[in-house]
Amino acid sequence: MVSFDDVVSLMKRRGFVFPGSDLYGGLANTYDYGPAGVELLRNIKNLWWNEFVTKRPDMVGIDASLISHHKIWEASGHVGGFADAMVDCKNCKTRMRADHLIEDFSHKNVEGFTTDQLDEIIRTDKVPCPKCGKVGMWTAVRKFNLLFPVQLGIVEGDQSQAYLRGETAQGMFINFKNVMDSTRVKLPFGIAQLGKSFRNEITLGNSVFRTIEFEQGEIEYFMRPPKTDEEWLVPYQEWKNAMWDFVTNKLGITQENLRWRVHSDEERSFYSKRTEDLEYNFPFGGFKELWGLAYRTDYDLSQHIKFSGKDLTVMDPQTGQRFTPHVIEPAVGISRLFLMILCDCYRVDNEKKRIVLALPKHLAPYKAAVFPLLANKEELVHKAKEVFTLLSQNMHVAWDDRGNIGKRYLSQDEIGTPACVTIDFQTLEDNSVTVRDRDTAHQKRVTIDELKGILL
Ligand code: GAP
Repeated sequence: MVSFDDVVSLMKRRGFVFPGSDLYGGLANTYDYGPAGVELLRNIKNLWWNEFVTKRPDMVGIDASLISHHKIWEASGHVGGFADAMVDCKNCKTRMRADHLIEDFSHKNVEGFTTDQLDEIIRTDKVPCPKCGKVGMWTAVRKFNLLFPVQLGIVEGDQSQAYLRGETAQGMFINFKNVMDSTRVKLPFGIAQLGKSFRNEITLGNSVFRTIEFEQGEIEYFMRPPKTDEEWLVPYQEWKNAMWDFVTNKLGITQENLRWRVHSDEERSFYSKRTEDLEYNFPFGGFKELWGLAYRTDYDLSQHIKFSGKDLTVMDPQTGQRFTPHVIEPAVGISRLFLMILCDCYRVDNEKKRIVLALPKHLAPYKAAVFPLLANKEELVHKAKEVFTLLSQNMHVAWDDRGNIGKRYLSQDEIGTPACVTIDFQTLEDNSVTVRDRDTAHQKRVTIDELKGILL
């Protein structure tokens, strides 16, 4: 298995991810995506949107506000219950999630445990502080709400209290009627959204795996209330298949590094009839949640009907009776897909002494890189610029005229560029260039006319 430290080091070295607010000493659990990272992230998002919205007749998209009414989060249950159980070390002031602390030290699954139960385990197992090593210095376990409150300056009274959204999902529920009224959709159909969510999380520092600001891709798939389990299990299984297909076939992830895990009764939210996580075997701590799939019944729409006083029911055209649609929700963290892809594609080529990021071509930040053999030969640079302009009409191309060709290859290998095109003196004579393949490092000579066909 790859070393996670090596992946993180490549992410910084090659401009995928930088620590947030780096210039000022960093800001915990925040990250900035660099030039290579922003391209990879965008490619993942475009692929997700393309597969789950563009290609499907039963899906539409929205882009809801990040700042939202406090009532939304009261209705959803986030204001009352969206909390992590935390402990602080009285000696060194380290703050930790109590479940992570116990899982790491005692290897016990404490999903669904009360704060009293967590306290008891920390005491009886004599769990030490992972930072200073002291035992018996933990505060009592306390609940810590994850929502980020924001105060709206120009609005008076109760209305001034809003929240940064803690999930994109609520945007779909509160716009369910708007979408029904403004489009020609009919049940079953889904609303999808890609965008930032915010949670005031205490994290374990595994890069972008768990951050306080992160990108989600969520789908709320609305359907008539099923009469039997068999009825909802059909779309549930279809979504499971679609998620698996996306991760294995579209993202090209190694199947052995993936597994499904069904939530236990204690772990599952009370309104969910079934929840499963698609997990990836990350090189830190093993299998971890990547993508959740939950059958949320009619809980969310019912809550918003109750809190808003508005009618979000749908009329059955045959019987004339109204019903509240039920929902299946596939919810993924785009930043987790990003981290998984970097871990899965990281290769060490000992023979050629290089690191290769074996990204599928459609995900690579650049599809090709163009090099003039020598940067100080005007005629080579001129010709290489022509090739760059030609290719960049159809694909994202990198330009590099710094240092020797070997170093240029190594840096493109590390950001996963599938092909490097070099313009040399022979190009000036016969319009041919060398194309070097990332994975094999083999080179072949082709004409400029053939290039697009080969690279696309
Ligand atoms: N609407 C349901 C929902 O938000 P979730 O399991 O809390 O469910 C869905 O989040 C997905 O979002 C997770 O499977 C994970 O991939 C991602 N995610 C959640 N919290 C995250 C965080 N703090 N940082 C990065 N990704 C996160």
